[in-house]
Amino acid sequence: MILDFKGRHIISIKQFTKEELEYILKAANQMEKYYKTGSDLLKGKILATLFFEPSTRTRLSFTSAMYKLGGEVISLSNPEMSSIKKGENLTDTISVVQSYADVIVLRHELEGSAKLMSEVSQIPIINGGSGTKEHPTQAMLDLLTIKNEMNGKIDGLKIAICGDLKYGRTVKSLAYALSHYDVELYFVSPPSLRMRHEVISDLHSLNVKFKELNDLSEIIPELDILYVTRIQSERFPDPADYAKVKGSYRIDVSMLNRAKENLKILHPLPRVEEIDYEVDHTKYARYFQQAYYGVILRMALLALVLGGSF
Ligand code: CP
Repeated sequence: MILDFKGRHIISIKQFTKEELEYILKAANQMEKYYKTGSDLLKGKILATLFFEPSTRTRLSFTSAMYKLGGEVISLSNPEMSSIKKGENLTDTISVVQSYADVIVLRHELEGSAKLMSEVSQIPIINGGSGTKEHPTQAMLDLLTIKNEMNGKIDGLKIAICGDLKYGRTVKSLAYALSHYDVELYFVSPPSLRMRHEVISDLHSLNVKFKELNDLSEIIPELDILYVTRIQSERFPDPADYAKVKGSYRIDVSMLNRAKENLKILHPLPRVEEIDYEVDHTKYARYFQQAYYGVILRMALLALVLGGSF
Protein backbone atom coordinates (compact mmCIF):
# COMPACT_ATOMS: atom_id res chain seq x y z
CA MET A 1 0.00 0.00 0.00
CA ILE A 2 1.20 3.54 -0.77
CA LEU A 3 0.76 6.05 2.06
CA ASP A 4 0.67 9.73 1.19
CA PHE A 5 2.91 12.02 3.23
CA LYS A 6 3.09 14.83 0.66
CA GLY A 7 2.83 18.25 2.27
CA ARG A 8 2.64 16.85 5.82
CA HIS A 9 4.37 18.48 8.76
CA ILE A 10 6.49 16.20 10.95
CA ILE A 11 6.11 17.64 14.43
CA SER A 12 5.77 14.79 16.91
CA ILE A 13 6.39 11.05 16.89
CA LYS A 14 2.94 10.77 18.46
CA GLN A 15 1.25 11.82 15.19
CA PHE A 16 2.34 8.58 13.46
CA THR A 17 0.64 5.19 13.46
CA LYS A 18 2.71 2.01 13.54
CA GLU A 19 1.81 1.43 9.89
CA GLU A 20 3.15 4.88 8.97
CA LEU A 21 6.34 4.37 10.96
CA GLU A 22 6.96 1.01 9.32
CA TYR A 23 6.33 2.60 5.93
CA ILE A 24 8.92 5.31 6.65
CA LEU A 25 11.50 2.73 7.81
CA LYS A 26 10.96 0.74 4.62
CA ALA A 27 11.32 3.90 2.53
CA ALA A 28 14.57 4.69 4.38
CA ASN A 29 16.06 1.34 3.44
CA GLN A 30 15.00 1.97 -0.17
CA MET A 31 17.09 5.16 -0.04
CA GLU A 32 20.33 3.19 0.38
CA LYS A 33 20.68 2.93 -3.39
CA TYR A 34 20.41 6.71 -3.80
CA TYR A 35 22.83 7.22 -0.91
CA LYS A 36 25.41 5.27 -2.91
CA THR A 37 24.73 6.63 -6.41
CA GLY A 38 23.05 10.01 -5.84
CA SER A 39 19.73 10.87 -7.48
CA ASP A 40 17.72 13.65 -9.13
CA LEU A 41 14.59 12.76 -7.18
CA LEU A 42 14.34 16.20 -5.53
CA LYS A 43 16.05 18.25 -8.24
CA GLY A 44 14.74 21.82 -8.15
CA LYS A 45 13.58 21.54 -4.53
CA ILE A 46 15.07 23.62 -1.70
CA LEU A 47 15.42 22.71 1.96
CA ALA A 48 15.81 25.49 4.53
CA THR A 49 17.49 24.43 7.78
CA LEU A 50 16.70 26.88 10.59
CA PHE A 51 18.66 25.97 13.71
CA PHE A 52 18.38 28.12 16.83
CA GLU A 53 20.24 25.55 18.95
CA PRO A 54 23.55 23.80 18.24
CA SER A 55 23.50 20.70 16.05
CA THR A 56 25.94 18.59 14.11
CA ARG A 57 24.04 15.44 13.11
CA THR A 58 20.50 16.68 12.53
CA ARG A 59 21.43 19.71 10.44
CA LEU A 60 24.22 18.06 8.48
CA SER A 61 22.39 14.78 7.88
CA PHE A 62 19.35 16.64 6.53
CA THR A 63 21.72 18.69 4.37
CA SER A 64 23.50 15.57 3.13
CA ALA A 65 20.14 13.86 2.52
CA MET A 66 18.92 16.75 0.37
CA TYR A 67 22.12 16.84 -1.69
CA LYS A 68 22.02 13.06 -2.17
CA LEU A 69 18.55 13.48 -3.70
CA GLY A 70 19.61 16.29 -6.04
CA GLY A 71 18.06 19.18 -4.09
CA GLU A 72 19.57 22.39 -2.72
CA VAL A 73 19.92 23.67 0.85
CA ILE A 74 19.77 27.13 2.39
CA SER A 75 20.66 27.44 6.02
CA LEU A 76 20.37 29.59 9.08
CA SER A 77 22.70 28.02 11.59
CA ASN A 78 23.88 31.08 13.47
CA PRO A 79 20.93 33.14 14.74
CA GLU A 80 23.40 35.86 15.78
CA MET A 81 23.95 36.55 12.07
CA SER A 82 20.26 36.63 11.13
CA SER A 83 17.56 39.27 11.54
CA ILE A 84 16.43 37.47 14.71
CA LYS A 85 19.28 39.48 16.24
CA LYS A 86 17.46 42.67 15.20
CA GLY A 87 14.32 41.52 16.99
CA GLU A 88 12.46 39.64 14.24
CA ASN A 89 10.21 36.93 15.67
CA LEU A 90 10.09 33.29 14.58
CA THR A 91 6.66 33.61 12.98
CA ASP A 92 7.86 36.35 10.64
CA THR A 93 11.00 34.36 9.86
CA ILE A 94 8.93 31.31 8.85
CA SER A 95 6.48 33.47 6.86
CA VAL A 96 9.41 34.74 4.81
CA VAL A 97 11.43 31.54 4.47
CA GLN A 98 8.44 29.66 3.09
CA SER A 99 8.84 31.78 -0.06
CA TYR A 100 12.47 30.71 -0.37
CA ALA A 101 12.18 26.95 0.18
CA ASP A 102 9.95 23.90 -0.28
CA VAL A 103 10.48 22.38 3.18
CA ILE A 104 11.87 23.65 6.49
CA VAL A 105 13.73 21.76 9.21
CA LEU A 106 13.47 23.75 12.45
CA ARG A 107 15.31 23.32 15.74
CA HIS A 108 14.35 25.64 18.57
CA GLU A 109 14.67 25.59 22.35
CA LEU A 110 11.01 26.47 23.04
CA GLU A 111 8.57 23.65 23.78
CA GLY A 112 5.95 23.47 21.05
CA SER A 113 7.87 25.76 18.69
CA ALA A 114 7.66 23.42 15.68
CA LYS A 115 3.95 22.84 16.23
CA LEU A 116 3.30 26.56 16.47
CA MET A 117 5.27 27.25 13.30
CA SER A 118 3.42 24.48 11.44
CA GLU A 119 0.26 26.52 12.00
CA VAL A 120 1.89 29.46 10.19
CA SER A 121 3.76 27.68 7.41
CA GLN A 122 2.35 26.82 3.98
CA ILE A 123 5.24 24.40 3.39
CA PRO A 124 6.10 21.30 5.46
CA ILE A 125 7.87 21.91 8.75
CA ILE A 126 10.03 19.06 10.04
CA ASN A 127 10.82 19.26 13.74
CA GLY A 128 14.59 18.92 14.14
CA GLY A 129 14.25 19.07 17.94
CA SER A 130 12.03 21.31 20.04
CA GLY A 131 12.49 21.99 23.74
CA THR A 132 12.98 18.97 25.98
CA LYS A 133 10.12 16.85 24.64
CA GLU A 134 10.20 16.18 20.91
CA HIS A 135 12.79 14.94 18.42
CA PRO A 136 10.68 12.83 16.07
CA THR A 137 13.20 12.23 13.29
CA GLN A 138 15.77 11.01 15.83
CA ALA A 139 13.22 8.52 17.16
CA MET A 140 12.55 7.29 13.62
CA LEU A 141 16.24 6.79 12.94
CA ASP A 142 16.58 5.05 16.32
CA LEU A 143 13.79 2.66 15.34
CA LEU A 144 15.47 2.09 11.98
CA THR A 145 18.77 1.33 13.74
CA ILE A 146 17.16 -1.13 16.14
CA LYS A 147 15.24 -2.85 13.37
CA ASN A 148 18.15 -3.12 10.95
CA GLU A 149 20.68 -4.13 13.59
CA MET A 150 18.36 -6.77 15.09
CA ASN A 151 17.58 -8.56 11.80
CA GLY A 152 14.30 -6.77 11.18
CA LYS A 153 12.80 -7.50 14.58
CA ILE A 154 11.78 -5.05 17.32
CA ASP A 155 9.11 -7.13 19.09
CA GLY A 156 10.47 -9.18 21.99
CA LEU A 157 13.50 -6.97 22.67
CA LYS A 158 14.62 -5.78 26.11
CA ILE A 159 15.73 -2.20 25.77
CA ALA A 160 17.34 0.06 28.39
CA ILE A 161 17.14 3.82 27.89
CA CYS A 162 19.76 5.34 30.14
CA GLY A 163 20.88 8.81 31.23
CA ASP A 164 19.03 12.12 31.28
CA LEU A 165 15.39 11.10 30.89
CA LYS A 166 14.08 14.40 32.28
CA TYR A 167 15.67 16.90 29.90
CA GLY A 168 16.59 14.62 26.96
CA ARG A 169 14.08 14.87 24.12
CA THR A 170 15.32 11.87 22.14
CA VAL A 171 14.44 9.46 24.97
CA LYS A 172 10.83 10.65 25.16
CA SER A 173 10.24 10.46 21.42
CA LEU A 174 11.88 7.01 21.36
CA ALA A 175 9.70 5.74 24.23
CA TYR A 176 6.56 6.76 22.31
CA ALA A 177 7.91 5.21 19.10
CA LEU A 178 8.61 1.93 20.91
CA SER A 179 5.13 1.93 22.43
CA HIS A 180 3.91 0.47 19.11
CA TYR A 181 5.98 -2.68 19.68
CA ASP A 182 5.94 -5.53 22.16
CA VAL A 183 9.12 -4.59 24.02
CA GLU A 184 10.27 -4.45 27.64
CA LEU A 185 11.74 -1.06 28.53
CA TYR A 186 14.04 -0.13 31.41
CA PHE A 187 14.38 3.57 32.16
CA VAL A 188 17.71 3.96 33.96
CA SER A 189 18.56 7.34 35.47
CA PRO A 190 19.44 9.13 38.69
CA PRO A 191 16.22 9.75 40.66
CA SER A 192 16.35 13.47 39.85
CA LEU A 193 16.39 12.76 36.09
CA ARG A 194 13.49 10.32 35.81
CA MET A 195 11.13 10.28 32.84
CA ARG A 196 8.50 13.02 33.26
CA HIS A 197 5.16 12.15 34.82
CA GLU A 198 3.15 12.84 31.67
CA VAL A 199 5.26 10.38 29.68
CA ILE A 200 5.00 7.72 32.40
CA SER A 201 1.26 8.23 32.53
CA ASP A 202 0.94 7.96 28.72
CA LEU A 203 3.04 4.78 28.66
CA HIS A 204 0.83 3.22 31.33
CA SER A 205 -2.24 4.10 29.23
CA LEU A 206 -0.58 2.52 26.18
CA ASN A 207 0.11 -0.68 28.19
CA VAL A 208 3.86 -0.42 27.64
CA LYS A 209 5.92 -2.77 29.83
CA PHE A 210 8.57 -0.73 31.63
CA LYS A 211 10.54 -0.38 34.87
CA GLU A 212 12.39 2.60 36.31
CA LEU A 213 15.83 1.88 37.79
CA ASN A 214 18.88 3.67 39.21
CA ASP A 215 21.43 0.97 38.54
CA LEU A 216 22.36 -0.17 35.06
CA SER A 217 24.68 -3.01 36.08
CA GLU A 218 21.86 -5.16 37.47
CA ILE A 219 20.15 -5.45 34.07
CA ILE A 220 23.10 -5.45 31.64
CA PRO A 221 22.99 -9.26 31.12
CA GLU A 222 19.30 -9.04 30.11
CA LEU A 223 19.58 -6.40 27.44
CA ASP A 224 19.34 -6.53 23.67
CA ILE A 225 19.65 -2.76 23.24
CA LEU A 226 21.36 -0.24 25.51
CA TYR A 227 20.44 3.30 24.47
CA VAL A 228 22.72 5.75 26.26
CA THR A 229 22.23 9.51 26.44
CA ARG A 230 24.17 12.52 27.58
CA ILE A 231 23.21 14.45 30.70
CA GLN A 232 22.03 17.75 29.21
CA SER A 233 24.08 20.26 31.20
CA GLU A 234 22.69 23.21 29.23
CA ARG A 235 19.09 22.56 30.35
CA PHE A 236 19.64 22.53 34.13
CA PRO A 237 18.22 25.70 35.72
CA ASP A 238 20.81 25.38 38.52
CA PRO A 239 24.41 24.31 37.65
CA ALA A 240 24.72 22.86 41.19
CA ASP A 241 22.06 20.28 40.29
CA TYR A 242 24.04 19.28 37.20
CA ALA A 243 27.18 18.87 39.33
CA LYS A 244 25.31 16.35 41.50
CA VAL A 245 24.50 14.00 38.58
CA LYS A 246 27.45 14.63 36.26
CA GLY A 247 29.20 11.36 35.47
CA SER A 248 26.41 9.21 36.95
CA TYR A 249 26.83 6.62 34.21
CA ARG A 250 29.87 5.59 32.27
CA ILE A 251 29.77 2.52 30.06
CA ASP A 252 33.17 0.85 29.83
CA VAL A 253 34.40 -2.47 28.49
CA SER A 254 34.50 -4.10 31.93
CA MET A 255 30.73 -3.57 32.29
CA LEU A 256 30.18 -5.37 29.02
CA ASN A 257 31.77 -8.64 30.18
CA ARG A 258 28.33 -9.77 31.33
CA ALA A 259 26.45 -8.51 28.22
CA LYS A 260 24.66 -10.71 25.70
CA GLU A 261 26.75 -11.54 22.61
CA ASN A 262 24.31 -9.63 20.44
CA LEU A 263 23.87 -6.51 22.60
CA LYS A 264 23.85 -3.28 20.59
CA ILE A 265 24.77 0.03 22.18
CA LEU A 266 23.15 3.10 20.65
CA HIS A 267 23.55 6.79 21.45
CA PRO A 268 21.92 9.73 19.65
CA LEU A 269 25.20 11.63 20.18
CA PRO A 270 26.90 13.93 21.00
CA ARG A 271 28.70 11.87 23.61
CA VAL A 272 30.45 13.61 26.48
CA GLU A 273 31.75 11.04 28.95
CA GLU A 274 29.01 8.45 29.25
CA ILE A 275 30.61 5.90 26.92
CA ASP A 276 34.32 5.15 27.24
CA TYR A 277 36.16 5.50 23.91
CA GLU A 278 37.41 1.91 24.23
CA VAL A 279 33.81 0.73 23.75
CA ASP A 280 33.92 2.16 20.20
CA HIS A 281 36.16 -0.74 19.18
CA THR A 282 33.85 -3.46 20.47
CA LYS A 283 31.18 -5.31 18.48
CA TYR A 284 28.54 -3.72 20.69
CA ALA A 285 29.05 -0.13 19.55
CA ARG A 286 26.55 0.86 16.83
CA TYR A 287 26.24 4.60 17.45
CA PHE A 288 28.23 5.68 14.41
CA GLN A 289 26.21 3.33 12.21
CA GLN A 290 23.15 4.92 13.83
CA ALA A 291 24.32 8.31 12.51
CA TYR A 292 24.50 6.81 9.00
CA TYR A 293 20.93 5.53 9.33
CA GLY A 294 20.02 9.15 10.08
CA VAL A 295 20.94 10.15 6.55
CA ILE A 296 18.86 7.51 4.75
CA LEU A 297 15.96 8.07 7.15
CA ARG A 298 16.01 11.80 6.45
CA MET A 299 16.34 11.18 2.69
CA ALA A 300 13.11 9.19 2.96
CA LEU A 301 11.32 11.90 4.95
CA LEU A 302 12.30 14.64 2.50
CA ALA A 303 11.24 12.50 -0.45
CA LEU A 304 7.94 11.63 1.20
CA VAL A 305 6.90 15.13 2.28
CA LEU A 306 7.96 16.59 -1.06
CA GLY A 307 6.08 13.92 -3.00
CA GLY A 308 9.07 12.40 -4.80
CA SER A 309 8.22 8.97 -6.25
CA PHE A 310 10.80 6.25 -5.73
N1 CP B 1 21.30 13.50 17.87
C1 CP B 1 21.26 14.82 17.60
O1 CP B 1 20.17 15.43 17.55
O2 CP B 1 22.47 15.38 17.36
P1 CP B 1 22.75 16.92 17.06
O3 CP B 1 22.34 17.71 18.28
O4 CP B 1 24.22 17.00 16.76
O5 CP B 1 21.89 17.31 15.89
